[in-house]
Amino acid sequence: MNILISGANRGLGLGFVRRYLARNDSVWACYRSDSGSLTDIDDENLHHVVWDVGSDAGPVGDLPDTIDLLINNAGIYGPGKDGQSLDRITSEAMHEVFNIDCVGPLRVVQHLKGRVIAAKGVIANVSSKMGSSGDNGSGGTYAYRAAKAGLVIVSKSMAVDLAPFGVHVITLHPGWVQTDMTHHTGLIDIETSVTGMTEVIADARSYPAGAFIAFDGQSVPY
Ligand SMILES: NC(=O)c1ccc[n+]([C@@H]2O[C@H](COP(=O)([O-])OP(=O)(O)OC[C@H]3O[C@@H](n4cnc5c(N)ncnc54)[C@H](OP(=O)(O)O)[C@@H]3O)[C@@H](O)[C@H]2O)c1
Repeated sequence: MNILISGANRGLGLGFVRRYLARNDSVWACYRSDSGSLTDIDDENLHHVVWDVGSDAGPVGDLPDTIDLLINNAGIYGPGKDGQSLDRITSEAMHEVFNIDCVGPLRVVQHLKGRVIAAKGVIANVSSKMGSSGDNGSGGTYAYRAAKAGLVIVSKSMAVDLAPFGVHVITLHPGWVQTDMTHHTGLIDIETSVTGMTEVIADARSYPAGAFIAFDGQSVPY
């Protein structure tokens, strides 16, 4: 399979890269500017692409003609928890996080949809349970919650729009994972999260188009 992953230089994105290379898939690993640990991977099936999803500039690097699986993984949290309280959140932070976490995946799909359609492939958009209204019992975290909620809705529209072309779109929640984003305080490690999400992706067409699914296969409310 040809697989393209955004934000692939560290964290969950890098975990996906390692997982799919181990399966002998061809992986186009996209990173914003620093290739990070991708540099240490010596594998002829690994292709590097520079892509800042917060910019309209688009990717730098060769892309495959067909993409069987596109994982929109790149994302930011924004200001630390206190910086996203009702009193402290700023319009700048709201816009910055929305631009990367919600508009970013939209930009990537706008750029690549022809290649995914050519493969009748799958698009997996990595959101978060923090973007679920139904699951929001603690409030706060305005920028991240709003951007990830926006992504759930954008992902659903993509699912509807691309279904007639044979493309299946789902939204993922990785769990609370030990990565830089959580300052390594998550409940599960990268391998557990990626193993679970990979299984969900392999089974993607058994879920409704635009379904919001956690790493353990559980449905997440919108
Ligand atoms: N960890 C969790 O518990 C958790 C829970 C729910 C959802 N998620 C979501 O899972 C995804 C991966 O998170 P993670 O935990 O692996 O976070 P992470 O370790 O902080 O990694 C984030 C990745 O996104 C990339 N990125 C950020 N801004 C970018 C941009 N403008 N263009 C391209 N790449 C960009 C980063 O690249 P740089 O190195 O260049 O910054 C990095 O590769 C995110 O969408 C996150 O919101 C994570």
